[in-house]
Amino acid sequence: MYYPQEIVDEVLANTDIVDVVSAHVHLKKRGKDYLGLCPFHNEKTPSFNVIPAKNMFYCFGCGAGGSAITFLMKYNNCTFTEALKELADRAQITLPAPNYSEETKKREKHRQDLLAVNKEAATYYYKLLRSRKGARGMKYFTDRSLSPETMKMFGLGFADGASSDLTEHLRKTGFSDELILESDVAVFNEKQGLHDRFFNRVMFPIQDVRGRVIGFGGRVLGDAKPKYINSSDTMIFDKGRNLYALNLARRTKADHLILCEGYMDVIAMHQAGFNQAVASLGTAFTPGQAALLRRYTKRVLLAYDSDGAGVRAALRNIGILRSGGLESSVIDLRPHKDPDEFIKAEGKEAFQDRIDNAENSFFYELRMLSQSYRMDDPASRTAFHREVARKLCTFTDEIERENYIAASAEKYFIKTDSLRRLVAQYGNATGYGSAAGESRRGRQNTRNAANTPPDRTGKEAADSRAGRFVPSGAVPAGTPSGQAAGKAAAAGGQEKAAPGPADENTGRRAGPAGRAPAGPTRAQKALWEKQCLLLTWIVDDPAVFAQLNKYLEPGDFDGAVYQRAAGLLWQQLQGGSGPVNAASVISAFETEREQEAAASILNMHLEGIEDADDRAKTLRELVFFIKQASLERMTQSGGTQSLQDLLSAKQKLQALRTVRFQL
Ligand code: CTP
Ligand code: MN
Repeated sequence: MYYPQEIVDEVLANTDIVDVVSAHVHLKKRGKDYLGLCPFHNEKTPSFNVIPAKNMFYCFGCGAGGSAITFLMKYNNCTFTEALKELADRAQITLPAPNYSEETKKREKHRQDLLAVNKEAATYYYKLLRSRKGARGMKYFTDRSLSPETMKMFGLGFADGASSDLTEHLRKTGFSDELILESDVAVFNEKQGLHDRFFNRVMFPIQDVRGRVIGFGGRVLGDAKPKYINSSDTMIFDKGRNLYALNLARRTKADHLILCEGYMDVIAMHQAGFNQAVASLGTAFTPGQAALLRRYTKRVLLAYDSDGAGVRAALRNIGILRSGGLESSVIDLRPHKDPDEFIKAEGKEAFQDRIDNAENSFFYELRMLSQSYRMDDPASRTAFHREVARKLCTFTDEIERENYIAASAEKYFIKTDSLRRLVAQYGNATGYGSAAGESRRGRQNTRNAANTPPDRTGKEAADSRAGRFVPSGAVPAGTPSGQAAGKAAAAGGQEKAAPGPADENTGRRAGPAGRAPAGPTRAQKALWEKQCLLLTWIVDDPAVFAQLNKYLEPGDFDGAVYQRAAGLLWQQLQGGSGPVNAASVISAFETEREQEAAASILNMHLEGIEDADDRAKTLRELVFFIKQASLERMTQSGGTQSLQDLLSAKQKLQALRTVRFQL
């Protein structure tokens, strides 16, 4: 953490999370809390809660949750520090100079160095294009009708035929060979030593959302292969998490973004005034890129090549966009190949026309599907109708489904009633939303869906009682919420932070200590769920802490995130400094994943046990269970614990059998 926790706490204490969230999400008051539609996943019924008492938010649909800092990190796709700064500004608190750890400082310096190399290289190529040596590159771009302004806006450049000019230039500027190599503008081999990666190519610098050059694409001037080469991924360049020209397109006034395949397509569109265009980076479109787009828009138009490969890519990406909570439509470029050629041939008005008439992606999918059936053959036609019905089942919202049924029936000359019946048949057999193995809106609206680690094989239906503790004492084999979460995660295709033992540094979930990350066992999931219940209980009712404090310590919890969350809670409660602050615990974690994990740990409420005696018994069972597991781990790990500790733990466990908690 770069700032002391006290400062973070002070900022949070002076922040009204309802205010912060309301700026982006329409919230309605519901009891003490506020409810709205989750901005982090696609939903029609609100499951996004803001809980002022805890100064936190939590979505029961997708498991997103955390403090106001987490919210801004997720919503604005920014770092912890950036979010903290924004909140500090709002609260008019001046932040002290950040206190970076040595390691962080080093890493940050290294990132800056890599950015500096890329920037210097971009400048070098940029100047070269405009010099005598760049005449061939300039002719190439001019022949492709790019104006000087466009070339400038995209920072286009040229790498000439000399094989180590840039490398020499960078060395002279003072960059080390290691850094030049790592930034991937140069490569090494025995024969040539360190030499330029790009030569005889026109250069497209690739910028991140903030406009910093993070890599390059280079195109040959003629027909040689490969047509394009791109920088490999580096510490600052992740092709799956950036989009070409998003730094420009994010400022568009359009209510959508256009996603296409090529650098030249993007540039041609921008030059024609369509500044909402972006492209993937020479690799397949990823869910990470969908998430990135979702920060800037709700609606994406696909402008993919009209050939077979383009259609396949479009069909594939429609699914990815849908899972990412984005609506999409497809722009028809026929008879031209791509946006660049279309605009050149027909002009911008015609292109605007195609934008206005973009085809809803569902109907696009149906149309493509229909091409593999013969409508004049009754058997084939029937098979097609069945396929249509199956796809229609994926609309879980009844009104939406009905509208699509009516429209599809009309388009394909089917009787609406017959189609509706067919849909109902499939819907009943498979459950709406899970037909055809589709992921569309597959996320169940369960209580605390992310509270147990995703179990991707979860087959059982989502249990509406998910997340609810069954006070039986025994280890429930595969808790309902585990299955629900598994189903939600598998169906939604989303990877959610789960409060499994997280690696302190990366925030990634690690497997059981010492073993390959094979995924948690059922017993382990049951343990984690109980840990969640107990920690949430302590936050909700700090009075229980005084009673169980004797028996349990943070080290008894399984998993790094749990231990740390417990440690922070214990600290607050032993200090006795007023009510426990869930947001403060959450904000002690740095990465979004960890914050989410912490939020879900503190958000699993015990429900349905009203009787005080029963509650006391349940509390005892929880504490006993956690202590017992801890003792087991202690015994198994062998050696590290003193006999004394082991004995004392055993005694505590014994005492727990009979203790009567007072609630
Ligand atoms: N691409 C790549 N490597 C290749 C070919 C293509 O990385 N060998 C990527 C580039 O990002 C390119 C995109 O795929 O912009 C689309 O490729 P393509 O349609 O072949 O090229 P165009 O964008 O049409 O390029 P141009 O108009 O310059 O031919
Ligand atoms: Mn092209």
